[in-house]
Amino acid sequence: MTHREPRPDTYRMVFRGAVVPAEPGQSVGAALTAAGIRDWRVTRKGGRPRGLFCGIGICFDCLITVDGVPDRRACLVPAADGLRLGDDEPGEQAGEQAGEQAGEQAGEQAGEQAGEQEGGHVPSV
Ligand code: FES
Repeated sequence: MTHREPRPDTYRMVFRGAVVPAEPGQSVGAALTAAGIRDWRVTRKGGRPRGLFCGIGICFDCLITVDGVPDRRACLVPAADGLRLGDDEPGEQAGEQAGEQAGEQAGEQAGEQAGEQEGGHVPSV
């Protein structure tokens, strides 16, 4: 893997106290993933990690708090300089529970459909 210098117009976002770089045009989810962060929340039941799954706004697996606003889909939120990402904002739990229920249902449905279409392989969701 080659080291790539950050572009001068690189954004800087903060996730759990760490700076996450992003380039214009990236989504929050893409920037987190590019930074090696594969999950940013856990399911209420079982504590299973969640991050990007569909990447196109359908499954709700990627829910994240952005600047104190809970339940944003990381795959749809454009990266921007100075965004605060993550679960350290007050009042997130209630919204996260609602989002998890929607996300788990949608993710399970998407996984089941993918498994049916791809000969039985169901990605872990
Ligand atoms: S990864 Fe964002 S909605 Fe599926």
